[in-house]
Parts: sequence; C-alpha cells; structure tokens
Amino acid sequence: MLAQIKKKIKSSEIYKSIFRHGYEDTQRNRALMVVDNVFLHLHPVRVSRHAVNYGYTWGMGGISFLLFIILTITGVILMFYYRPAAEYAYEDMKYLMNDVPFGALIRNMHRWSAHLMVITVMLHMFRVFLTGSYKPPRQFNWVIGVILLLLTFLLSFTGYLLPWDQLAIWAVTVGTNMARATPFLGHQGPFGPELGMRPDNDVRFLLLGGTQVGPPALLRFYVLHCIFLPLVTAIFLAVHFWRVRKDGGISGPVQRKV
Ligand code: HEM
Repeated sequence: MLAQIKKKIKSSEIYKSIFRHGYEDTQRNRALMVVDNVFLHLHPVRVSRHAVNYGYTWGMGGISFLLFIILTITGVILMFYYRPAAEYAYEDMKYLMNDVPFGALIRNMHRWSAHLMVITVMLHMFRVFLTGSYKPPRQFNWVIGVILLLLTFLLSFTGYLLPWDQLAIWAVTVGTNMARATPFLGHQGPFGPELGMRPDNDVRFLLLGGTQVGPPALLRFYVLHCIFLPLVTAIFLAVHFWRVRKDGGISGPVQRKV
C-alpha cells in the first residue's frame, strides 16, 4: 500500500518537476542530482582532497558565512522589537533583554556572532595569504574579499550605535570623528579645506546626518545596518562563491613537475 503511494507520488508530474533524477547511486546520477538542485549546486560535483581538509582551509570562510546567516536570522528577530528612534531605542533594548522570551539569548547570539565574524573573516584572510591563494588566477577574488572585509567592519560599526546607550554613543562619536580626517572628503583631511569641506558638508556630516551623533545618525546607521550593508554583502558573497568555482575550486598545494 505504502509502496504504491510512494510510486504514485514519484511518477507524478509535480514530483518529477522538482526532483528530476532518481537515487540510483551511479557516478553520473550523483553529478546530475547536484547540478540540478538549486541548493546542492552551490557545491561542486567533485572536490579535491585538500579542499575539504580543515588543516588547509581552516574552514574559516565557511564559518564566516555560517555566522553571516546566524546574524541575518537573529537580526530579523531583533527588528521585530526595536524602533530606531532616540526616544524608543534604549527602552526597546531593555524590554528585549528583560521581558521578551529568549530576547537576551537572541541579542547575545547576534552580538557574539558579530564579534566572532570579525575574527573569523580576518583569520580567513590570513589563511588565504599564507597559502598564497591571492595569486593568479584568484587575484580578483582577493579584491572581492577585501571589499567583504570592509563590509564586515562597517556592519559591525553601524550595529554598535543601535543600543543607544552611553557606550554606543561615545564609541561612535570617537569612530566618526576619524572621518573628519578623510583625504579630500573630510574638513580636517588633506586637501579637504581646499575643496571647500566644512563640518556641515563633509563626509562625516553625510554619515551622521548632522554635526554630532544624534537621532538622525541613529536612523541612518539603522538603515545602513539592517538594509543597505547586508544587501550589498549578500551580493558580494554570491560573487565571491561563484568566483571560487570559476577559479577552479579552492587552491591547492603547488603541483611539482617531475
Ligand atoms: C564575509 C566574509 C567572507 C566570507 C563569508 C568568505 C567565504 C569564503 C569561502 C566559503 C571560501 C571557500 C574556501 C574557504 O572556506 O577557505 C572562500 C575562499 C576565498 N576567499 Fe573568502 N570569504 C570572506 C572574506 C574574504 C576576505 C576578507 C578575503 C581576502 C581579502 C577573501 C579571499 C578569498 C580567496 C582568495 C578565496 C579562494 C581561496 C582558495 O582558493 O584557496 N575572502 N571565501
């Protein structure tokens, strides 16, 4: 009876439109199943031995991506409870920490994952450097990686302001003060004054929406943190992973000619 139902489902048009290949364990079928599935096709059909060797990759790229996913999921949950306005932000954080079921857990998962991601991305970059994987043909992916590193830092920095407590406000005050010294675009930076930069029109003003950290800065950081930067990061991650494949998979030890 059960076998008959199973057979009927498997021969239906709907089933066959989703799963195009059976389970027969042949080498060709295994390859077909991978390339025909949107999730499985992210992995190559064949990988070299060192590509799955943690001693070689340290798994740091994969762990960074896992943390990015955890951050996205916990971040969306936090957004249900947080309003980016000066009169609510700190109260919402306290409500989340003290009254929302598992609120403290979700917030801490988000915070710790963010700290960890900064560390794992740097370790990943270090590994890529040590194994010489920045060399041709992977030089373009190294550049994509540098942009990803910058985006990770920016995500971390913009998130830091959102609790709207004293630590957040003063840390971001110090951080954004550095933007005053940006070459060309900061009013204290090289060639800034010559180009007409003032405290009320330079890059720091653009970032803060004012001349000091206040409610407009909170809203700007929120939009950057929750929408713009994650979206841009997701796009660059897609290019990064696509590029790993196009460059012939993960690099390997130099093949010696004998
Ligand atoms: C959000 C940050 C990042 C994520 C999630 C990420 C993810 C990954 C993953 C999953 C791989 C496959 C191999 C592995 O796991 O080691 C990889 C490879 C690679 N990544 Fe990243 N990456 C990030 C940032 C960076 C940075 C900062 C750099 C360097 C500036 C970089 C350069 C590379 C290069 C060149 C490869 C190819 C390595 C090889 O072929 O051995 N990535 N990345």
